[in-house]
Amino acid sequence: MNVLGIDTSCDDTSAGVVVGGRRVLSNVVHSQISLHSRHGGVVPELASRAHVRNIMTVVREAVSGAGLRLGNIDAVAVTIGPGLVGSLLVGLYYAKALSSVLKIPLAGVNHLEGHILSVFLEPDIPSFPFVCLTVSGGHTSIYHVKGYGDYIQMGQTLDDAAGEAYDKVAKILGLGYPGGPVIERIAQSGRRNAVSFPRAYLSSDSLDFSFSGLKTSVSLFVKKWRQEPESGKRASVADIAASFEEAVIDVLVQKIFKAQELVGAGAVVIAGGVACNGRLRSVASAEAEKRGVRFYHPRPVYCTDNGAMIAAAGYHHLINGHAVDSSVDVRSRYPICEI
Ligand code: KG4
Ligand code: ZN
Repeated sequence: MNVLGIDTSCDDTSAGVVVGGRRVLSNVVHSQISLHSRHGGVVPELASRAHVRNIMTVVREAVSGAGLRLGNIDAVAVTIGPGLVGSLLVGLYYAKALSSVLKIPLAGVNHLEGHILSVFLEPDIPSFPFVCLTVSGGHTSIYHVKGYGDYIQMGQTLDDAAGEAYDKVAKILGLGYPGGPVIERIAQSGRRNAVSFPRAYLSSDSLDFSFSGLKTSVSLFVKKWRQEPESGKRASVADIAASFEEAVIDVLVQKIFKAQELVGAGAVVIAGGVACNGRLRSVASAEAEKRGVRFYHPRPVYCTDNGAMIAAAGYHHLINGHAVDSSVDVRSRYPICEI
């Protein structure tokens, strides 16, 4: 089954064609970074207008890039939430129109389910059950993944998402947007123990996260640091970036393996934009090896928002008879337990 997946939940207009929920024929992403970077974050009104401008071209490129015509598409899958309402609406109404004109079924996908299943776009896949850390600009959650469509949320952030913390710290340091890739690059030449930023583990058995205290701590540190005279002893921007990154990664890795231990899963998966991070991957991979657990992560283009992961998730909805009708609406909040 050739499924066309569409995601317009935030600031990327994306579409991809996937066969059988696994084999990617195309994956096209139109990034809006240049539009939002001067504002230091996503401006919802600008995002939805840009989706309207770009969606036709992105879908056309996804279909032709797959070597197909619209007539060869068997079903459409689209993100219905969570996300920015104005952005989600563009993808949903475009998908509804395609489904109606082509007379093919429509699947309404939870964006987080897309991130969880993005690992199945890779050749080497985990077996169920596994635990998945979904870590992006909008979300930081741990799921016990028992099967397709069978997810239990074990923990989530109580305030900022980890990617949001990267973006805010990059803004504080004047490094631009999005913060994740630039902080990762600069941190490579910094000392990870130069500044001791706080790690919010919360209670000892908690699988929840909190990154707002870390962000405030970096902000206060940088304010004082800017007043200090430059000297050989003064921490560098790279030291601050590396110390911040280490504080985030320590907590992410500790919690995902605590979850793995709790449910006795044989595999750990990381997904979402922050899962592009090389340091997170190598620390988590070393921990997995120490514990004799398998570790998986999708390649970067499947970590950040993309249409292929939505096609993969939609495929499983459809083969299980869960197509949606034209009355389906978007949901700015969409807990995974309500799938
Ligand atoms: O999954 P995604 O594309 O969109 C959301 O659903 O949020 O994730 C974007 C987030 C941004 O906050 C960005 O700073 C972060 O992922 N990110 C990274 C890296 N690449 C992207 N964070 C840390 N290290 C990276 N290499
Ligand atoms: Zn996402």
